[in-house]
Amino acid sequence: MDMPTSQTRFDPATAEVALRGLRAPRKTLPPHLLYDPEGCRLFDAITTLPEYYVTRTELGLLRDIGPELRARIGPGAAVVEYGAGSVTKAALLLAALEQPRAYVPLDIAAGAVAATVAAMQSRFPALALHPIVGDFQQPLALPPLPRPLLGFFPGSTIGNLDREAALRFLRTARATLGEGARFLLGVDLPKSPEILIPAYDDAAGVTAAFNLNLLHRLNREAAASFQPGHFRHRAIWNAEDSRIEMHLESQVAQSVAVAGVPIAFGAGETIHTESSYKRRPEDMIALASEAGWRSEAVWTDAGDLFSLHLLA
Ligand code: TRP
Repeated sequence: MDMPTSQTRFDPATAEVALRGLRAPRKTLPPHLLYDPEGCRLFDAITTLPEYYVTRTELGLLRDIGPELRARIGPGAAVVEYGAGSVTKAALLLAALEQPRAYVPLDIAAGAVAATVAAMQSRFPALALHPIVGDFQQPLALPPLPRPLLGFFPGSTIGNLDREAALRFLRTARATLGEGARFLLGVDLPKSPEILIPAYDDAAGVTAAFNLNLLHRLNREAAASFQPGHFRHRAIWNAEDSRIEMHLESQVAQSVAVAGVPIAFGAGETIHTESSYKRRPEDMIALASEAGWRSEAVWTDAGDLFSLHLLA
């Protein structure tokens, strides 16, 4: 995960976005607030939990399709990774390809980009590295890169975007990567809530700590008075929208101050903190084609848990 610098003092911008979400009729907080240094540490711990099938399934699938990807992409590729938080996955992809020539980790967190570059340099000394620190939701100018060009967006991070945001992201990526590029996308699949819920509400309580960490952060950075013990982590499967929702549920009726503004909570009222959409291959293909991408191949694991899409 990315490693933003530690922020322990009041930050007006954080207070403002928090208040905007908390004053809405249905309370929300923006997911990016989950990823402070402690949030990133907890997120890394989530990826190795027994209940969190996503990371190990995607790694296994990447390993399995390596030879086919190698043949499809051809020699001398440049890989542009969206988000630089997964050295293991990028290294696996680069090792599968035939003499890749360049790797571009693209992340909003400068620390994550620097750590990824250092790790890749030692593993692939012949690879040209072009780190970019920036927001990949915006069109970006890439340095001159060898072809073929392959975008890589693993981890079902696209699942954290709703339909409109995912469309916008896919269109922007098309503009950034340009004519002739391909895009390898990790997409989590819909499945039984018996598998989904524990993946987002594990027995050891790591995901709960990850979600509740948001309240500790707001206490520090938004001058808030949350008592995290008065909230509970909830993972809810919203079948109609095919998404897991993470909420923080108020256990009592209470009032919390955020930057001097009182926020009232009813007992059982929740703050929606993040969604994780699960998209069937046909739905993902339809979404991608609406954004101008053509589906070249889709792979799923034997357990039908996770998919990798190759778009052109
Ligand atoms: N995008 C991944 C997913 O939705 C990772 C992730 C984001 C996540 N936020 C999370 C995993 C919160 C667990 C809990 O699965």
